[in-house]
Amino acid sequence: MNRQDFPILNQTVYGKPLIYLDNAATTQKPQAVIDAIAYAYSTFNANIHRGVHHLSQVATEEHEKARQKVADFIHAQSSNEIIFTKGTTSSINMLAWSLGEWKKAGRYMIENGDEIVVSTLEHHSNIVPWQMLAERRGAVLKVVPLKADQSIDLEAFKQLISPRTKIVAMAHVSNVMGIINPVKEIAEMAHQAGALFAMDAAQSAPHIVLDMQDIDCDFCSFSAHKMYGPTGIGVLYGKESLLQQLPPAEGGGEMIEHVSFERTTYNTLPYKFEAGTPNFIGSYAFGKALDYICSLDKKQLFEEEMALCKQLEEALLKGNYSGSTIEIYGRGLQKVGAVSFNLRNAQGQLIHPYDIGVLLDRQGVAVRTGHHCAEPLIDHLQVPGTVRASIALYTDESDIRALINALEKAAAMLA
Ligand code: ALA
Repeated sequence: MNRQDFPILNQTVYGKPLIYLDNAATTQKPQAVIDAIAYAYSTFNANIHRGVHHLSQVATEEHEKARQKVADFIHAQSSNEIIFTKGTTSSINMLAWSLGEWKKAGRYMIENGDEIVVSTLEHHSNIVPWQMLAERRGAVLKVVPLKADQSIDLEAFKQLISPRTKIVAMAHVSNVMGIINPVKEIAEMAHQAGALFAMDAAQSAPHIVLDMQDIDCDFCSFSAHKMYGPTGIGVLYGKESLLQQLPPAEGGGEMIEHVSFERTTYNTLPYKFEAGTPNFIGSYAFGKALDYICSLDKKQLFEEEMALCKQLEEALLKGNYSGSTIEIYGRGLQKVGAVSFNLRNAQGQLIHPYDIGVLLDRQGVAVRTGHHCAEPLIDHLQVPGTVRASIALYTDESDIRALINALEKAAAMLA
């Protein structure tokens, strides 16, 4: 489906048709996005928000149009709530920095002994910035455990949060297992405890209809390159009332209202958080990626992707692995985007995911293997890593069949 729009997919590797199943790492780009980058550089490249000249005005308009497209895509209340960043990692780091510097009535919002809650299944990007903040402010990082089926233990979460909890930071979808977390419930529980809810939507924004107002999300981060857009651009969403109060993480051009050596005042939202020349070519191309998704009937597309993810899991379970057995993490739970697995040989020994990844690659199948930047989860699963197959809107049943065939051959070689 729609494969013809993605020129990179039409190639062979090692003489085999490319089967690209590493979409959770990055998605391929439709021709419309590739063309948009060339179009922007060839027609309106000029620094934005600064020039009175025509090109600068066009570039500024396009950047702001893209901001509105993002706001509409995630049902934000206003485009003032959309900050363009380099990507999810930079969004979370910026947020953690700003929250750490936020003072109310002379007191830091996060003080010694306060708590930041994350879960066991987080990507390093949603652990390390919070750890750094905790260290800076003397706060405590608390970790919500997983249940035996690898879903978030909501009962344990309820016990863990306290009046000292200031931030709950969790992924909407696990980048390793594809499991969807009940973020609406998590947000509600965080708010009841008086905490803010920061959602990592890197793996959900490409596959789930996001609604900031329905989830009642305080902050949300995601990347364009996982959504058919360019690399180097992403979003930090924040409720306007909160962003108004937060201090900026970076200083420089454009984020100011007035500068003197004695005192600087900051610009209005969202510019207060966009110091320096923004990636306006990236935002334009990202807008085109969102147009592309929306042209396909987003809701129906995402439902089909969810069904395909289920099909992928079922097909993996049915494969014949020459006496080895397959272990799927979070088996049976509702997933989007990704499925993670390992093979165990007849002696019960785990076949190293890297060996499987290399043998799949030689057959043209691209998957990711390893800890997927989620070492605490991999430690929890007590494995050296996993093999992760992840899908996108151009993935279809033939890709799944190719994966299973290649996996069966790899298993026969490694048995
Ligand atoms: N965060 C990306 C992944 O999970 C890179 O592969």
